[in-house]
Amino acid sequence: MALIETPHGKLWTWLDERIGLGDLAKLAKKKRVPVHRHGLWYYFGGMTLFLFVVQVATGILLLLYYRPSAEEAYESVQFLMGEVEFGWLIRSIHAWSANLMILALFVHLFSVLLLKAYRPPREVTWLSGMALLGVALAFGFTGYLLPWNELAYFATKVGTEITGAVPLIGRFLLRLLRGGDEVSGATLTRFYGIHVAVLPALVALALGLHLYLVQKHGMSVPPGVEREGSPRSMPFVPNFLLRDVVGWLSAVAVLAALAAFFPTELGRKADPFAPAPIGIKPEWYFMFMFQTLKYLPSHILRIEGEIVGVVSFGLGGLFLLLIPFLDRRAARGEPSPLFTWIAIGLIVYVLALTYLGYAANPTK
Ligand code: HEM
Repeated sequence: MALIETPHGKLWTWLDERIGLGDLAKLAKKKRVPVHRHGLWYYFGGMTLFLFVVQVATGILLLLYYRPSAEEAYESVQFLMGEVEFGWLIRSIHAWSANLMILALFVHLFSVLLLKAYRPPREVTWLSGMALLGVALAFGFTGYLLPWNELAYFATKVGTEITGAVPLIGRFLLRLLRGGDEVSGATLTRFYGIHVAVLPALVALALGLHLYLVQKHGMSVPPGVEREGSPRSMPFVPNFLLRDVVGWLSAVAVLAALAAFFPTELGRKADPFAPAPIGIKPEWYFMFMFQTLKYLPSHILRIEGEIVGVVSFGLGGLFLLLIPFLDRRAARGEPSPLFTWIAIGLIVYVLALTYLGYAANPTK
């Protein structure tokens, strides 16, 4: 095969003339990553990306056997786990990787928040990141129902009930999500469509923009480091990329161990007429919101407590979204301790309420 003898052989030239491989290679050679004491946090975006790729690959394999209807979903997953070779492994990796991806995403989000990487000109990078956060949580929420087991069924019932508390459009949202008044086969089919078609399309848009902007602006240097002068840097290819690969391979090892030692269970098939089992709780990344709502009194200033909670979370989300535009001191390159404390407060709040949620609901 003379065509692929060397990297710069005929195949390279053929592709270069048609898709500009040379330009891409130049871009890769030019990209550098700053080296300083906070450099560890630069790896978490790439880790989130890697785990997302694992999700796409294992998700496609699951699709070969999964059937999106109330009559067949549970049985198709049961068949996949019992009869299909390595089916249990693929399903477990998909479930564990989803959890690790959201964990990596939270670490990435909070690190860019604390390092103030949202400062100009990276406001849109931040906004596209927030869109990715919303999409990732929606992936988790819709995916949870798909095996159509008891826990998922009742967790979805509670979760969609909470959307019903959104003022003005709550009822509409609830019916839109459920495909009726109750969680039923129609809900499952909708969640399936959202999980495998709508969200991947949104990810493609938001992730494309996010990565384009990361490439365009390069990696930011935290303000504290910037004030000390320009730090050293290392080439992205191969130095940083190889370090990324070490992280990704470690993630594969962790995933394989988790999937092998703690395979995802299936539980009992959902029965809409059965009483809700005790200890219904959402996925861990929704726990802090779930637990907050539980603590609220039934009425606050004559408004239903749940409505106050949902509106507060909406406003909190909006505040987080607008941080690049609100933190004017950071934008001018000055220290902005207020926003550092807000970020720390947020992390402590999420951790504390998650802990309290698990302490209050110890059963599975
Ligand atoms: C699926 C979700 C996400 C993926 C795959 C992703 C991927 C990446 C990657 C690969 C980078 C470059 C390396 C790094 O800085 O770690 C990056 C940078 C960045 N991301 Fe994300 N990200 C995601 C979500 C988010 C979220 C939720 C936010 C915050 C709202 C965010 C904000 C940023 C910012 C501001 C940068 C620039 C960092 C800098 O220049 O120092 N990203 N992202």
